[in-house]
Amino acid sequence: MNHDLKKCPVTHLTTDQGAPVSDNQNSLTAGPRGPLLAQDLWLNERLANFVREVIPERRMHAKGSGAFGTFTVTHDITQYTCAKLFSQIGKKTEMFVRFSEVAAERGGGDAERDIRGFAMRFYTEQGNWDIVGNNTPVFFLRDPRKFPDLNKAVKRDPRTNLRSPTYNWDYWTLLPEAFHQVTITMSDRGIPASYRHMHGFGSHTFSFINANKERFWVKFHFSTQQGIKNLTDEEAASIMGQDRDSHQRDLYNAIEKGDFPKWTMYVQIMPETDAEKVPYHPFDLSKVWPHGDYPLIEVGEFELNRNPDNYYLDVEQAAFAPSNLVPGISVSPDKVLQARLYNYADAARYRVGVNHHQIPVNKARCPVFSNHRDGLTRVDDNYGSLPHYEPNSFHQWQEQPEFREPPLKIHGDADFWNFHEDDNDYFSQPRALFNLMSDAQKQVLFENTARAMGDALDFIKYRHIRNCHACHPDYGAGVAKALGMTVEDALAARSSDPAQGCAVLI
Ligand code: HEM
Repeated sequence: MNHDLKKCPVTHLTTDQGAPVSDNQNSLTAGPRGPLLAQDLWLNERLANFVREVIPERRMHAKGSGAFGTFTVTHDITQYTCAKLFSQIGKKTEMFVRFSEVAAERGGGDAERDIRGFAMRFYTEQGNWDIVGNNTPVFFLRDPRKFPDLNKAVKRDPRTNLRSPTYNWDYWTLLPEAFHQVTITMSDRGIPASYRHMHGFGSHTFSFINANKERFWVKFHFSTQQGIKNLTDEEAASIMGQDRDSHQRDLYNAIEKGDFPKWTMYVQIMPETDAEKVPYHPFDLSKVWPHGDYPLIEVGEFELNRNPDNYYLDVEQAAFAPSNLVPGISVSPDKVLQARLYNYADAARYRVGVNHHQIPVNKARCPVFSNHRDGLTRVDDNYGSLPHYEPNSFHQWQEQPEFREPPLKIHGDADFWNFHEDDNDYFSQPRALFNLMSDAQKQVLFENTARAMGDALDFIKYRHIRNCHACHPDYGAGVAKALGMTVEDALAARSSDPAQGCAVLI
């Protein structure tokens, strides 16, 4: 439905250059039965535009839904960060949020078993701050070298163009650090009922810097106020049979009728020097920080209260980047975060163009004065006649040393460090999660896993059973039974696993 009809002052058709179009029904031909004439300029313009309508889809997270909203501070955290958006209780900041499926292509089904993207943009007075997170607190990997192949493995087989349980599970089971995330994905939380009914997480460790230039490590959590709701495989299959866009529909309709979804924001704070003392790797993306060690501290809440008027303009062209940071919020040594700091802006330049930051949804709501100029489709004044170099004698483009971060101590020899040698505890956190599950939830986990493994080759199923067994004997036994196999056979199959010697095998 078009809600803009009344707003639009123009009703008559023109070309892109503004010239009136006299006939939009009939092409220009030589006689009623004759061929087209090349001088049918309007037909040419229409077709030329048509074949350029689509921009590349996001390499992953291609299917998504977005909405605008408002973040409100409810608690004082100024002892940890000088970021202005947190400077006062009651302070409001405009936001844009995009939720997504990960593996699905642009037209994919919303109710698939997969993790969900949870990308948030805060339009702060000091620039855009993006948290490009997921609905899970951990991730499949902890070294970015592995990311491109993770995506290939979960997407389509290059020959059949079908999703391949063999390739998907071969890759997952060869990354024991993925086991935590795989357990969450196969659990009863693996298919959220809607985007409104799931939590969000920054997942990585980031840093806060306060007004005294002290650094804290921080993790971000966003708890749904709608409550967690999930779908079973059966419910999801039935929904997708009727509606591939169930999450988009749910979010759009809720906002349209004024039922604005809300999330509460919490942080976990670790003093800078604790990072060297905690028994786990504080920058390991496959692990959480136990809440007992670092409790959740409430910060504020956001609500989504406005649907975009135009999906392509605001949602498809949205370009989030973990490198969009503001003073008081910064990075950590997490290797995956470090890789992401470059990759998203690079993707945006490819997907949307070098001037993607001028598109309204990406445009900062504060003055931008970067001295980056020109480039394809520059649509602002391009900094007019201002001198275009720095230093200059005209006091333009002055740097702002007061925003410098405190120095970060880094030590160690440059090498291809193997995370496995530093920390090979893959199972204690998923074990704790498994122990928290009721018997019914465990059963759901076993059955979801067996269904998702589908026709994967047997040696891969055996490998997964061994991983489950290493996590907890009941987990191994439950998945084995659901697959119609035994733990004993899985353990015996270890010596004949074809991945012997080329990956970490449990
Ligand atoms: C989208 C790269 C890990 C969350 C993307 C895109 C790229 C990318 C290139 C498409 C961006 C675009 O075209 O606008 C990577 C790399 C990773 C990584 C290289 C690791 C080395 C992660 C992790 C998370 C995450 C750990 C969550 C904790 C997202 C989300 C989107 C996304 C939510 C969709 C953003 C949107 O809604 O537009 N990623 N990613 N990614 N990624 Fe990652």
